Amino acid sequence: MNLLIINGPNLNLLGKRETSIYGSESFEDYFNKLVEEFKADNLVYYQSNSEGDLIDKLHSEGYKTDGIIINAGAYTHTSLAIADAISAIESPVIEVHISNVHKREEFRHKSFLSAVCKGVIAGFGLDSYRLAIEALKRS
Ligand code: DQA
Repeated sequence: MNLLIINGPNLNLLGKRETSIYGSESFEDYFNKLVEEFKADNLVYYQSNSEGDLIDKLHSEGYKTDGIIINAGAYTHTSLAIADAISAIESPVIEVHISNVHKREEFRHKSFLSAVCKGVIAGFGLDSYRLAIEALKRS
């Protein structure tokens, strides 16, 4: 399968950002492990801190890739524009969060994306991404 992982704002700092919440592993190191584990698949990783770039990526890949895993970071809780982009495309999209957003501040409980995604995985640390890949491969 061709699978795209999209990370939104501040997730380029994984490994050094609020490590008590997000852990001490960089996403690049974790992604290399995923590539090793899912050798038979083509995994691509994209990160941007800009809402428009995330939308452009959804547009350019969302009609040809087999599945998209998105952690939109704080845009999850604010971006109708990203939700509309997910609605517009054809590839199935899974919303992922490293932390259990429902155990955290109330403003993190609302997601604009959940209603337009195939499913949501949150709270399993970086393993949330692996679980999302498994879910896409089974569906
Ligand atoms: C996050 C949760 C968001 O609330 C936060 O803004 C992030 C990361 C997570 O993966 O747990 O940037 O999406």
